[in-house]
Amino acid sequence: MRKVDLLIKNAKELLTIASAHPKTGKEMQELGIIEKGAVAVDSGKIIDVGVTDDLIELYDPDKTIDASGKVVMPGFVDPHTHPVFVNTRENELEQRLQGKSYKEISQTGGGIRSSINDVRKATKEELFELSQKRISKMLAQGTTTIEAKSGYGLSLESEIKMLEVIKELNEKTPMNVISTFLGAHEYPEEYKDNHEKYIEILVNKMLPKVAEKHLADYCDIFCEEHVFDIEESRLILRHAKKLGFKIRMHADELEPIGGAELAAELGAVSADHLVAASDKGIKQMKKNNVIPILLPGTTFSLGLEKYAPARKMIEAGLPVALATDFNPGSCNCDSMQTVISLACLQMNMLPAEAIVASTLNAAYSLEIDDRVGSIEAGKEADLLIMDMPSYQYLPYHLGSSCVDKGIKKGKFLD
Ligand code: NIG
Ligand code: FE
Repeated sequence: MRKVDLLIKNAKELLTIASAHPKTGKEMQELGIIEKGAVAVDSGKIIDVGVTDDLIELYDPDKTIDASGKVVMPGFVDPHTHPVFVNTRENELEQRLQGKSYKEISQTGGGIRSSINDVRKATKEELFELSQKRISKMLAQGTTTIEAKSGYGLSLESEIKMLEVIKELNEKTPMNVISTFLGAHEYPEEYKDNHEKYIEILVNKMLPKVAEKHLADYCDIFCEEHVFDIEESRLILRHAKKLGFKIRMHADELEPIGGAELAAELGAVSADHLVAASDKGIKQMKKNNVIPILLPGTTFSLGLEKYAPARKMIEAGLPVALATDFNPGSCNCDSMQTVISLACLQMNMLPAEAIVASTLNAAYSLEIDDRVGSIEAGKEADLLIMDMPSYQYLPYHLGSSCVDKGIKKGKFLD
């Protein structure tokens, strides 16, 4: 019998979600469920997965967890967040309820620009402490990997500071944190009437510095008519590519300006939001392997009626992924479980599809599918023991987290 650190046994449903490629079409409905499932863990990694009767014969664990009546699944992967900021902006929710749109608020002193001053003034330590608290809440709710973006500094020094905080969050907290540079989140106040100058700083100063310091794998942009339009986005992202960055995009969130098409043209890894994406854009994304990341929490928080066309994308064969978009403005949601409920209730995704989109496909969208996103031998032991009788319970239950125990690289999270 082989000695292992941990054996989880008797899971009513063990959702392996195993797959050698991002799941598309009908595959998104397959969770690879093992009934009375077990998983053996050693040195932070998954060693074996199977039925309990087999695994108890093979392994001699230091610790055993009985998951009778529960669901065991991979930790959530949240591939689009903005967790590093200072002030919250709940006043904007009230303004939206009084009839102002997100765009109007951002053009009248609110929005992304109103998050900039505090971030510029804050020390790295202050930013780290605030972000760490937010990240512990995500961990407690079952998210074991996030992508985190800069974009609330919008000057060379403050963007570097944000990216250094993101790096520290990865090193000093249990969360896997993948870093994205979002210097093109908005034009800062001082350049709002001189776009050319800000683009010049972005391209000639910020991007090269971030590349030199290896502070981000990806470069993202808020591509929207009133922020960075298509031409500006193309120019900035082409430079980013030349410097070795891979591309993610905030695309076609509010207006159909061809963001999805641009993502396809540039070979972006992901295009996110896509509420207003055109049919042509969807087709081109499929052709060029761009993963759509849908953010229904944002649509919900902005009080909009129209959600991203998830069904159309699944039918088009795109490997849909889901994320929270956690940020201080348009969506202050830190729960992937809530996002899964919204994906099902507002975009008609099936429970299994939404779970695949929040684990395996999300891991592919961050190019870390060899490490996380499913329960397969060799992957990191990021596991959730969920106090629920079936996977369908996850979108069905609203309000409290179903996580009974979270495990990160084989270690229990409290
Ligand atoms: O993804 N769209 C741009 N960025 C965020 C909003 C950030 C903010 O309002 O502070 C988003 O929704
Ligand atoms: Fe965002």
